[in-house]
Amino acid sequence: MRQVSESLDLVRRPRRNRKADWTRRLVRETRVTVDDLIWPIFLTDGDTPTQPIPTMPGVLRYSIAASVEAAKEAVALGIPLLALFPNTAGDLRDENGSEALNPDNLTCRALRAIRAEVPEIGLMTDVALDPYTSHGHDGLLEHGRILNDESVAILCQQAVIQAEAGSDIIAPSDMMDGRIGAIRAALDGNGYTDVSIMAYSAKYASAYYGPFRDAVGSSSTLSGDKKTYQMDYGNGAEAIIEAELDIAEGADMIMVKPGMPYLDIVHRLKAQFGMPTFAYQVSGEYAMIHAAGDRGMIDVEKAMVESLSAFKRAGADGILTYFAPAMARWLQQHR
Ligand code: PBG
Repeated sequence: MRQVSESLDLVRRPRRNRKADWTRRLVRETRVTVDDLIWPIFLTDGDTPTQPIPTMPGVLRYSIAASVEAAKEAVALGIPLLALFPNTAGDLRDENGSEALNPDNLTCRALRAIRAEVPEIGLMTDVALDPYTSHGHDGLLEHGRILNDESVAILCQQAVIQAEAGSDIIAPSDMMDGRIGAIRAALDGNGYTDVSIMAYSAKYASAYYGPFRDAVGSSSTLSGDKKTYQMDYGNGAEAIIEAELDIAEGADMIMVKPGMPYLDIVHRLKAQFGMPTFAYQVSGEYAMIHAAGDRGMIDVEKAMVESLSAFKRAGADGILTYFAPAMARWLQQHR
């Protein structure tokens, strides 16, 4: 018998569904659309429209005027939501992060400017103190400890100030206990019942946040680590407890962070709660793909599409990603 004509007696041949581009498209179970993308942008004071961030190739810090242009670009691309992160000037940072409560801080001014000119874009803001504290922690620091309840009281005020300035979604990234319920009550008490909360429910103490801390200027100031409030990377069941608490306290949407190393958590939370569930492809994940691409080790565009598709397959409803505009453009070209 000739070797080439030898054929197995198979009824099931999964490869048949992969035989051409059209079959692969036909049977594809999940896909990324522009509606899934949340674009995190960094803000900075001053008139220089944009500043590069060396550890995040292609990512910029925007002046307020430039952030309005970024919002217009997002609308043109069809991106539904921007997430704003301020790089606060060093002289405005103090022990208690008091600039977080300044109704004219960078985030609030950007909210008003974008809201005035680009009313159709969704705007999400970060609630945490790390862009404003001299020690770089997300809460109040006393004798080396991060105070929980005292921090929550400030975060509630921060959330209300952001809502007043026009934030549509408050996204607490601080990981203090009880903050979702307290922030919900503070928003409601001030008449902001329509302002949503996307809880960073399962946020892990992670090495992958390095470039973000460069972007917001907290890497040089951070003292110690965040392990007493962010989760331990060995834990999965604990993520379910955290999410359950946030949902019970009033979270409208939950989030897992970082993203790709924690897809099991995304899957578990979506399966368990069926809530709108998001994942944050964080700065270190983005930087790794670019770093490997720069060295000719990986195709950045393909890795972008594949990594974002993996989030959808895992069950995420959407992804916070620095690739958002690039992915939106890719989607326009591949439709
Ligand atoms: C802090 C915050 C961090 C990120 C978002 N909000 C970093 C940290 O917890 O130190 C990280 C995002 C990223 O790495 O892209 N509140």
